[in-house]
Formats: sequence, structure tokens, C-alpha cells
Amino acid sequence: MANPIAEINLGRLVHNYRLIKDRVGNAEVLAVVKADGYGHGAVPISKALEKVGVNYFGVFSIGEALELRNAAIKGEIIMFERLTREAVPLAVEHAITVNVSWFGDLDLFEEISKKGGPLPKYHIKVDTGMTRLGIPHDEVASVTDRILDTTGQQPEGIYTHLSTSDEGDLSFAYEQKTLFEDSVDQIRGICSPNWIHIANSGALVNMPDSFYNMVRVGMLFYGAKPSEEMINPLSIEPVMNFKGKIVLVRSVEAGTPISYGALYRPETDIKLGVVQVGFADGMPRPWFERGFVGWKGGRYKIAGRICMDQFMVDFGDSEPSEGDTVLIWGKDDENAIPVEEISKDIGLNPYTLFTAMSGKRIERIYLNE
Ligand SMILES: Cc1ncc(COP(=O)(O)O)c(C=O)c1O
Repeated sequence: MANPIAEINLGRLVHNYRLIKDRVGNAEVLAVVKADGYGHGAVPISKALEKVGVNYFGVFSIGEALELRNAAIKGEIIMFERLTREAVPLAVEHAITVNVSWFGDLDLFEEISKKGGPLPKYHIKVDTGMTRLGIPHDEVASVTDRILDTTGQQPEGIYTHLSTSDEGDLSFAYEQKTLFEDSVDQIRGICSPNWIHIANSGALVNMPDSFYNMVRVGMLFYGAKPSEEMINPLSIEPVMNFKGKIVLVRSVEAGTPISYGALYRPETDIKLGVVQVGFADGMPRPWFERGFVGWKGGRYKIAGRICMDQFMVDFGDSEPSEGDTVLIWGKDDENAIPVEEISKDIGLNPYTLFTAMSGKRIERIYLNE
């Protein structure tokens, strides 16, 4: 088989977890494993993390939450998506924690409660400036008051999401933090949520005063930097090696057009490798202009546009063999290509590159289980 390969190194995942845990001290670490663990496989990632003591997992949808439960993940699972009527009984049945993130969620809670139906555990999501889901920060007290009054159900947690914690200028992130703290102060008199959390990967490296008693971290687990701007970075290791197989090696004469648009024409006679990975597999299409792959410690130019299922590599006068693999990003014994190097060049962040790798053809191989 010549499927694209994603080697997922669980040893490096655990290494990254230990660094994160050390950084946050006593705060609980909630591992964000939404979008199939950022393309790394939510179930194996969560299992590996549960083994080393992670008890909280963040997903986006009820489907993702159920996938973890069905795979026997026992820890707390919190889902971030907007609450739906259909999700409530499933959340109750499978012990999934939900968000209350808008006024309609409150109406739904009240309606279910009036009919005597059980409610799931919930965190209050506060909007402090992301302007996505979230109870406006100045209405948190009245909303919480109303939930307590009509349902009697205490919130498990309260949180907000920061929109600029990974940027050099942290002033807006600190404005969000201040608004959040005001909201927490407002509800202190009426309830005391167990968990208070705002820190994502950016805040973990840039805002040491934002950890409270829980952090919600995704990207740092997977070993990529949330951005270039980090005040106090961690020595994280890339968890994923994205690789492709060379399925054909052929000699190509100088000037021969290669791939769509006939844009790439080598200046000399070369050996050309056809690699069986395409943009349908998450190979970033804009990466052909200055892009390269790793092979036997060298970097070789991507020759012409990336196709849906394949791309070509200019090996110059080197001679790879059919069946050899090339490294697209990651780090193995011979090659290292940080995903951040690619994302910076093409202006797409590592989040986009990882989560584009959801194609069915990708073969995930888990190392150091
Ligand atoms: C609500 C929420 N919390 C935490 C995270 C984790 O962010 P990061 O991967 O930057 O750590 C995300 C990811 O987008 C999120 O949506």
C-alpha cells in the first residue's frame, strides 16, 4: 500500500504533556482533542493521555464526545458546541459536560427542568471579546441566577476563550481577562463553580497569570507552536510525522513541464519522484512554490503544483528508490521539517494544516504506545 502516512509519536505527546503540567503547577490540564485530536486521532491520543493522568478532555461536538465515551474514555468530557435539544439527553446518558453559551440554552434548560428531565453538567461560557458563543460578560450574573433559580443546577465551571493570547501585543487578551474576572466576581455570591479556565496554548506560554485552576490546551500537546510570538516557550516535540511514499522514479530531461499549469521545468536533467500524497490528503496546495520534502537528510524541491492524490519531487542527480518515503513535516532520524516552517511560508497556521489531514486514505501509525 502506498497510502499517506501519519506517524503519531505518543512518547512525544507524553513528553509535551509533562512540560505543560510542569508549567501550570497545580492547575488541572484539560486536553483539547476536538477535530479528531487536531488530526492526530482523538481516541488514541485521549487513551495515551488518560494513562498518564489526564482527566479532562475537550471536544467540539456531541458526536466527538460520544466517540470518546464509546472508546471507554472515563475522564470528564466537555463539549464546546452550542447546545441542542437532541444533545441534552445524550449528554446526560453518557456523562458529557456541556456549555451554556447563549440565552436560548437557558430556555432549553428551564423547559427540560420543568418537565422533570435531568440536566447534564455544564460550564458557563462567557463572551469577553471573541464574539462567537458565550454569555455576554455583563449578563453572566443574571443568567446564572436564573439557571439556579429555575433548575437548581450549579455550574461545574466558568470559562472564556482568548482571541489574541498568541500575539506579541497581549493588551486585548488582558482586557478579556479583566472582564472575565469581573464576571467570576459577580457570581461568587450565588454559586462557586469548581473550574475556572481561560488559558489556551497561547496563554500557557504568554500569560502565566491566567491559569486559575484549569487550563484548556490543544496545540502544545501536539508539539507545534501556536504562533511565533511566545514569551516563555516550552521545548515541545512534534507528535506527527507526515510522510509519503515514492511510487515512481523517472528520468526527466531539462525543460520538461511538470504538473498542472506546466509551471515547473527543471533546468537540468533530473530524477523525478512521484509521491502518493495529494491535497485531498491534507498536503497543503500552496506549498509547491517554495516547498520541499525531506529524504535521507536532504531537502528536495517539490516540482510543480500539488495534485489531488500525488505530487512530484525534483531529486536532481540523487537517486531515490521506488518505495522510499519522504518526510512532509515532522522529525525522524534523518529529517526535520517543522510544520511551522511550512505554515509560515504559505500563511496558513499549523491548526489548519493538521486538521486538513482527515482524509480516509491517511494511515495513522502510533509509535511508543
Ligand atoms: C474553547 C477552546 N478552548 C481551548 C482551545 C485550545 O486552543 P489551543 O489549541 O490554541 O491550545 C480551543 C481551540 O481552538 C477552543 O476552541
